[in-house]
Amino acid sequence: MEFEVNGARRTVDVDDDPAAVEVVRDRLGLTGTKLVCAGGVCGACTIQVDGEPRVSCLTPAARLAGRRVTTVEGLATHPVARAFAGEDALQCGYCTPGFVVEAAAFFERWRAEHGPTRPGREQIAAALAGHLCRCGAYEGIFRAVAAACAGDYDTAPTGRQAPAVPRTEAPEKTGGSARYTTDLHPDGLLEGVIIRSPHAHAHVRSLEAGDLPFVPLLPPTAWCGTSGNPSRRSRHPTGPPHEPRPRASRWTTRCSRRPWTQAGPAPVRARWCTRTRRRGSGRPAPVRPPSWCPPAGAATCGAPPP
Ligand code: FES
Ligand code: FES
Repeated sequence: MEFEVNGARRTVDVDDDPAAVEVVRDRLGLTGTKLVCAGGVCGACTIQVDGEPRVSCLTPAARLAGRRVTTVEGLATHPVARAFAGEDALQCGYCTPGFVVEAAAFFERWRAEHGPTRPGREQIAAALAGHLCRCGAYEGIFRAVAAACAGDYDTAPTGRQAPAVPRTEAPEKTGGSARYTTDLHPDGLLEGVIIRSPHAHAHVRSLEAGDLPFVPLLPPTAWCGTSGNPSRRSRHPTGPPHEPRPRASRWTTRCSRRPWTQAGPAPVRARWCTRTRRRGSGRPAPVRPPSWCPPAGAATCGAPPP
């Protein structure tokens, strides 16, 4: 597949049907685009496709064929990027590339319709509604977008006129060149994958990761239960009595979400057995076991005895 990225023609192989974010980050090395929720919720992975903002985690890479793609690296000198640095519109900066790419598209639309005037807070909020900043830098973000649209950052000050930005690392974070741990891939790096259980109570029967070496972190009981605050230790809801629940961050997490495996060199898949007991009742949970689950009483499941 051939397409244009930040003004340069690029060719990539998309036979394995990757998401656009994977092509941009892993195959082209443009790590300014961040993958956070992988579900179209946070906006951190936003890129422009023919000038229109798109969440790249939900965009198949094949859709970029023949299109003009702009990532945050291509907007490093854009007035919006300068305004984010100048108005201190960030803290950790992880969400910032997505905001800058979206705000740059808004900037172009606003300028075409209104010229160098200041948009209202509601207009900025509507344009950036698909973005989340966990650091809560929203006040600075509103200021930066309004100032950029009004023309305060149209020219880059040089030499002694250039005021110091509030954060010294801001230009790297607004331009996408800042490196976070997730952007580094030293040799031999092990990758953690979170698999969310589709069942409230279940036993993890097996985990598969293709041909990749695998480091199992499940406790010997391999129980998965509902999770609350991951750091709170409480009695295990379905496992052996008095066993404290392992920290959710180590092996399992919320049950109410759809099962999810992270894009990577090989998907990791889990198989579950739902033939578990309700706490204290001694009766099986009212969940229909999947067809591959052995009949009740079979010894092959590996779950602790009811
Ligand atoms: S990572 Fe794509 S929207 Fe959050
Ligand atoms: S600056 Fe940290 S999440 Fe937005």
